[in-house]
Amino acid sequence: MTSHELRDMYINFFLERDHKQISSASLIPENDPSVLFTTAGMHPLVPYLLGEKHPLGKRLVDFQKCLRTGDIDEVGDASHLTFFEMMGNWSLGDYFKQESISMSHEFLTTVLKIPQEKIYISVFAGDESAPRDEESAGVWKSLGYPESHIFYYEKKENWWGPIGLTGPCGPDSEIFFDTGKEKCSEGCDPACSCGKYVEIWNNVFMEYTKDADGNYNRMPVRNVDTGLGLERVLAIMNNVPTVFDTDLFTPIIKKIEELTGTKYSEETLHQYRVIADHLRAATFVLGDNKAVSPSNVDQGYILRRIIRRVYRYLSQMDAPSNTMSKIATVVIDNYSDVFPELDRNREFVTTQLDHEESVFSRTLEQGLKIANKYLDKIGLEKLLCADDAFKLYDTFGFPLEFTQELAEERGITVDTAGFRDLFAAHQEKSRLGAAQKFKGGLADHSEETTKLHTATHLLNAALRKVLGDSVYQRGSNINPERLRFDFSFNRKVTPAELAEVESIVNKAIQDGVDIICREMTVDEAKAEGAIGVFTDKYGERVKVYSIEGYSKEICGGPHAANTGELVSFKIQQETASSAGVRRIKACIGSQA
Ligand code: ALA
Repeated sequence: MTSHELRDMYINFFLERDHKQISSASLIPENDPSVLFTTAGMHPLVPYLLGEKHPLGKRLVDFQKCLRTGDIDEVGDASHLTFFEMMGNWSLGDYFKQESISMSHEFLTTVLKIPQEKIYISVFAGDESAPRDEESAGVWKSLGYPESHIFYYEKKENWWGPIGLTGPCGPDSEIFFDTGKEKCSEGCDPACSCGKYVEIWNNVFMEYTKDADGNYNRMPVRNVDTGLGLERVLAIMNNVPTVFDTDLFTPIIKKIEELTGTKYSEETLHQYRVIADHLRAATFVLGDNKAVSPSNVDQGYILRRIIRRVYRYLSQMDAPSNTMSKIATVVIDNYSDVFPELDRNREFVTTQLDHEESVFSRTLEQGLKIANKYLDKIGLEKLLCADDAFKLYDTFGFPLEFTQELAEERGITVDTAGFRDLFAAHQEKSRLGAAQKFKGGLADHSEETTKLHTATHLLNAALRKVLGDSVYQRGSNINPERLRFDFSFNRKVTPAELAEVESIVNKAIQDGVDIICREMTVDEAKAEGAIGVFTDKYGERVKVYSIEGYSKEICGGPHAANTGELVSFKIQQETASSAGVRRIKACIGSQA
């Protein structure tokens, strides 16, 4: 069975049962500072799980890009990954335990034909926040699951959510596949991590919402949120021992062999799997519509961490330069029919990987020498001090986890608490600097900045016209003196091209075109060919600003009323911003 077939079987099964398909949302969550990445299919649906009406109704189904770093140390075994796809179906105040469990059972045993005796179940044992889930257990029993296949666990195992500190959550019922391996011990059961039982599906009965004081409050509606791990089920369906033996990974593994001249074997297995997993994750983060670049904060830091880990492993295999981006190309090719954004952002993905490689390759060797010196001098305390770990971070760009890995290889631990203190002090310093820099520039809706905002739309459209559709906005900053616009493009823009862009914008200004703002759904905006960052959330309404004949863009505004107000437009400078990203500064008005 291919991954395509599995996705289709799942989606169709639920479409046939009156669900509507929604598309995968971005890996970078919207308006949610509590977590860095989308970690579950329900994440983009939180408003609807809390009671907002979903435009597509009460039954939804999808497969969602997810990224979790919690299991990063487990990556390398048969089933743990950082990036993965979660197939999910939802009931928003519609069906509950009986139907949800029955449908899961039917899909697994009738559509996928997994023998029922291979399936094990867990349900919530009950505590002060919610009663023992006899109802779910009863449904499983009525479907023919014997008592010996049903396990009751505490909140730690059988309660899901909220994401972050507050939000929807509830008791869940998990479904495990018995791999047939020997029990690791007498007490080995589905909660054991030895690998005999693999968790494949989780049905969450979301009746509660946790508030900031830690109380679990009942919600007026009862929702169901489920998540089925695509990679794991695919491995089971193909009767292969690990997720790395499925069509989602075999082309990547093959490419690593080809580029490094090594073999995927017992000896290299761990490195291969980490490289394949991390590069797949990095490709999806960089190829996302809301992509970030490697950096020292937030999502950018996680990205940097996984890329640098891969780079070190590849260096140990004497891989030639640009191996990472070549492997990423295989990931893109393997997925772009399902996630077309990867193909659109191909250039960005590869240039960012090459760039990060070139930055890190300059310091890795030197850094490793110093790190080894630090580690050599460590005595019986077996502890690397925070100062040394921070020096490796600050001078050589070694993420903490990277240093930890080096230390662990010699049985040494790192003073991580001390590192975090130094790190926080360092960030505080740079934040003060940043606050200074932005003072006065942000949230300024003066007439001048409003006009510059309109000029930015015209510039964006003109760049796409002259340089092609691979141009995407990567950043924008406006102060009363000028606009600054960052966009994806892989080489210097020639003076002739700049002149052409400038003249298109000036023509639009001379034409005196009205700027029209209309509200519509994301789908309508897409259908009309509007550009901008799509949220991928069906039914969501957005504002589209049109400058007839020139530009149509999703944007929050505000804008000038007519292009004539801009008077004229001049590009002051075109430079590189980061790898694969160019930067233009321009001004408007009588000075331009
Ligand atoms: N949200 C549930 C999970 O991630 C389905 O396990």
